[in-house]
Amino acid sequence: MAGGGTSLGCASMNLLELKSIGHGFLGRAILDNIRLAVRKGEMVALVGPSGCGKSTLAQIAAGLIASRHGTVERGYRRSAFVFQEPRLLPWVTVAANVGLGLSGISLSRREKIDRIAAACRRVSLDEADCQKFPSQLSGGMRQRTAIARALVGDPDFVYFDEPFTALDAALRRRMQDLVITTVARRGTGGLFITHDIQEAVRICHRIAVLDRRGHGVLDCVTVPHAPGERSDELVFETARRLLRENPFFSVIEECDERKIA
Ligand SMILES: Nc1ncnc2c1ncn2[C@@H]1O[C@H](COP(=O)(O)OP(=O)(O)OP(=O)(O)O)[C@@H](O)[C@H]1O
Ligand SMILES: [Mg+2]
Repeated sequence: MAGGGTSLGCASMNLLELKSIGHGFLGRAILDNIRLAVRKGEMVALVGPSGCGKSTLAQIAAGLIASRHGTVERGYRRSAFVFQEPRLLPWVTVAANVGLGLSGISLSRREKIDRIAAACRRVSLDEADCQKFPSQLSGGMRQRTAIARALVGDPDFVYFDEPFTALDAALRRRMQDLVITTVARRGTGGLFITHDIQEAVRICHRIAVLDRRGHGVLDCVTVPHAPGERSDELVFETARRLLRENPFFSVIEECDERKIA
């Protein structure tokens, strides 16, 4: 889903600044005192055990949920959100679903068609796929349609909530490359939620680890070199080292929501 009109509140070069965010559901505290900033041209990974509040935090940052405490400052002009599930309209085609990402942008019919076709090509959906309805797609194709819908409007900030989990290894790598080149060429910023530390190391500039109970950002690690310039060996070794040597990273694999008392 693409969204326009954000409050241009960031005084600095930050595209997004979360200040002491706190939230809860049904009287249960989920997030507390979360502080995080994302600069222009920076992709920041958000990792943490299942149920710690990553999706909730991203939706608060995007303005889809109002937080109970704290403030969000947004310095971007246009944002898009790739949700954990594709959220496509079942009664229109892939092309029409992708076209929803152009709402609010003034373009001729021809320009819209060209932009939609280009966005579909970027996520490896061909012309025949574009005429299909969501029920005729595989899970991975649905998720790629959602990614195309997010990118078609050229947002300067993108929220990704575990966008590649439905994809096979080759497509996953191709979509990771798409994120890397989009950020490098267009200066796009974003938050990228993932459970896969190797994925975070491969495509992000920094990795923020959320506490298992959402009580703050435990650690924020800067990954060496720029995304796209890291060899597979470096990615593998950096992820291995973080999981083995950084106690905050090791909790990601150890616990999930079901184990929290
Ligand atoms: N609308 C809601 N009403 C009540 N509780 C909610 C709601 N949305 C989320 N929660 C609860 O808030 C907590 C955080 O949920 P959230 O989806 O943000 O976690 P997450 O870190 O994204 O997990 P995962 O990695 O499994 O996607 C969970 O305990 C969840 O059950
Ligand atoms: Mg989630």
